Amino acid sequence: MNVRLILATAALAVLVGTPVQAENGDSVSPQELKAKTDYCKTCHGLSGQGFRGSFPMPRLAGQQPQYIENQLQAFIDQRRTNPVMFNVAHVLSPAMEKALSEHFKELNPPPLGGAPKELAPEGRRIYEEGIASANVPPCASCHGPDAKGADAFPRLAGQLNDYIFRKLTGWDRERGQKKDQPDNSAIMQPIAHDLSEAQIRAVAAYVSQLE
Ligand code: HEC
Ligand code: HEC
Repeated sequence: MNVRLILATAALAVLVGTPVQAENGDSVSPQELKAKTDYCKTCHGLSGQGFRGSFPMPRLAGQQPQYIENQLQAFIDQRRTNPVMFNVAHVLSPAMEKALSEHFKELNPPPLGGAPKELAPEGRRIYEEGIASANVPPCASCHGPDAKGADAFPRLAGQLNDYIFRKLTGWDRERGQKKDQPDNSAIMQPIAHDLSEAQIRAVAAYVSQLE
């Protein structure tokens, strides 16, 4: 295991301990949850499979609930900057955030696809072996051998390739924007930074077609 990976894993062990909890016992009725998920799906797709409009809306189906809650809170705190999702998220109660993240975990539509298939073999190599010369650890070591993620490590399987490309090339401008409130985005930052655009395209093509 390389040093960066050990450090990153240690950092995560500290950082994942800040989940959002409903402190006041708030609960969400099935009707309230349905109204809210219907709203989410106008952008994220009817089965949470993602959607390509003027820009890609990420897949939420099968995503790790802990990761979804962390991102909703990051949008609210503006540690992760996105004007659309700030507006969506800042009205959500902690109980609703939790209910939403559990709802999307249960959905399992097929991947939207659309990535150049010929890039997938190189992408698979990067995913499974990393890139030793660039000090990039295997993606599988954190996102799991099947790319389904775990807890605060997001699922990548079936995620839209163009969304992945935009997120990895924009990492420094969008994530971890409150320097006094460090979060899990710091674990992924050096990896996003060390990948070339061609390598990102390849690994995005590979994971985006995984079920
Ligand atoms: C008006 C369109 C729109 C609506 C409605 C919407 N979203 Fe989003 N959402 C987006 C966009 C666009 C992004 C990608 C932001 C980015 O590029 O960083 C996003 C990103 C996210 C992410 C981060 C995903 C990831 O892989 O990191 C989560 C979680 C999320 N949305 C949850 C929700 C939930 C839950 C709802 C309903 C309460 C919702 N969204 C409603 C447009 C929308
Ligand atoms: C040391 C652990 C680690 C390794 C190795 C790693 N990641 Fe990540 N990755 C993370 C964590 C943690 C997050 C979530 C960051 C957050 O919550 O802000 C993440 C987030 C991401 C995201 C954003 C997902 C989304 O839905 O917006 C992408 C894309 C991603 N990683 C791709 C990769 C790729 C490709 C590789 C291999 C080249 C890789 N990761 C290797 C830990 C890792």
